[in-house]
Amino acid sequence: MSTDLDTIIKKYKQGKREDLIPLLQEIQEDQGFLSEEAIVKTGTFLGLSTTKIYGLATFYDKFRFIPAGKIQIKICHGTSCFLNGSQSIINRIKEETGINPGQTTRDGNFSYEIVSCMGGCNNGPVITVNGEFHSHVKAEQLPELIKKLKYVIDND
Ligand code: FES
Repeated sequence: MSTDLDTIIKKYKQGKREDLIPLLQEIQEDQGFLSEEAIVKTGTFLGLSTTKIYGLATFYDKFRFIPAGKIQIKICHGTSCFLNGSQSIINRIKEETGINPGQTTRDGNFSYEIVSCMGGCNNGPVITVNGEFHSHVKAEQLPELIKKLKYVIDND
């Protein structure tokens, strides 16, 4: 993991503070989340304290500080999906998993995030489950879907 981290950091040769967000984005893309090691190394490289980095990174809700769940759900909350009821989907997923967007369930099974338009506006509300699209989703379908996914994880 640290080899990748060093390789990514080295790409930002000049180590300017403006590089912080793109650098963190690239690390997250590569590693799935921002580990403590990543934050410390980035801080040392850019001459920023870890507190400062956490402060800036938590401002952007795209960053996660723990690994994502085995099942990653994305819920579109773009205008069209919003008008078609994405908020009730978000509420239901929150109820079913007991976590907020960007968090991971304690058993490491689920995480979810809210995203803007995923390009399927006519079929909204749209969610993806590990990249697989589900269209015209209704909040009432969520308990059954989560139950099925749990079954798949438990029997994997
Ligand atoms: S607004 Fe949800 S797919 Fe476009």
